[in-house]
Amino acid sequence: MPMKIPPIGLGTWGLGGKYERDESNREASIKSLKLGLKIGYRLIDTAELYGRGLAEEIVGQAIKSFKREEIFIISKVWLDNLAYDAVINSVKKSLARMETDYIDLYLIHWSKENRPKKNVPLEETVGAMEFLADQKLIKYIGVSNADVNTLRQVQKALKHTKLAADQIEYNFYDKSASKDIVPYCRRHDIKLIAYRPLTKGNLDWAKNQIICSLSKKYNKTSVQIVLNWLICLDLSPIPKASSEDHLLENYGALGWELETSDVALINNITQ
Ligand SMILES: NC(=O)c1ccc[n+]([C@@H]2O[C@H](COP(=O)([O-])OP(=O)(O)OC[C@H]3O[C@@H](n4cnc5c(N)ncnc54)[C@H](OP(=O)(O)O)[C@@H]3O)[C@@H](O)[C@H]2O)c1
Repeated sequence: MPMKIPPIGLGTWGLGGKYERDESNREASIKSLKLGLKIGYRLIDTAELYGRGLAEEIVGQAIKSFKREEIFIISKVWLDNLAYDAVINSVKKSLARMETDYIDLYLIHWSKENRPKKNVPLEETVGAMEFLADQKLIKYIGVSNADVNTLRQVQKALKHTKLAADQIEYNFYDKSASKDIVPYCRRHDIKLIAYRPLTKGNLDWAKNQIICSLSKKYNKTSVQIVLNWLICLDLSPIPKASSEDHLLENYGALGWELETSDVALINNITQ
């Protein structure tokens, strides 16, 4: 079955710490994710890396009072765990932390700086991912930060499943994927998910003249204009937001559409 993914989601980087566990914001993070789900978000992006598993525990607590099948969960296996048994072990731990039976979309978590590790053959990692899909522990297989060459290698390594997604950085300042990754993924029906859609909260671009004029034209905030632009490009953005104001503002990117010519206007802004 082709993968269907909600148009906007909730990021979790920083919930429960970054590279280390930080219990201090556990309750507040559960509360904000729950609020997000109450507002209507149905997609959560997390990873075993985030807060050394604490982000996944937080996700598990937040989704408890919602129907599991109504929520789309993305998680990721970190690049230190790409050997066959390590991938299996990682998913089992993620499932236990989130207290769920399956992950909707499981990504090989390469980072921009760390390309696929040479010491584990890609076929081994991909084989483990296919085993997890066969066991129904994950529904779809994806990657993060893969360039076109890597996408091709992963597609070649997959024996009986399709590569479903690539999660990449895409925002007002970084549109580099539009050159090759986006057209390649469109041709191969690989879903793109845009991380850091709000440039990690540095919103200098909100004052850009074109963004401001579109904001007036549509009576939407600059943040809503940019998130809607990503949605129009079919790049499901996954902004991380803690406060109710931010959660509501970001959700207001749904339910309307920029005209095609305005999408092109933002595409063509250069810095
Ligand atoms: N695959 C990868 O390699 C990778 C890499 C990076 C990120 N990610 C994923 O992508 C998600 C999003 O990226 P990110 O968290 O790095 O950056 P981001 O979503 O671009 O920005 C998050 C920041 O924006 C602020 N913010 C949210 N809504 C806002 C609004 N309406 N107005 C003003 N500020 C607002 C947040 O503040 P508050 O928290 O105060 O609301 C937070 O400081 C991550 O959480 C993670 O799940 C994946």
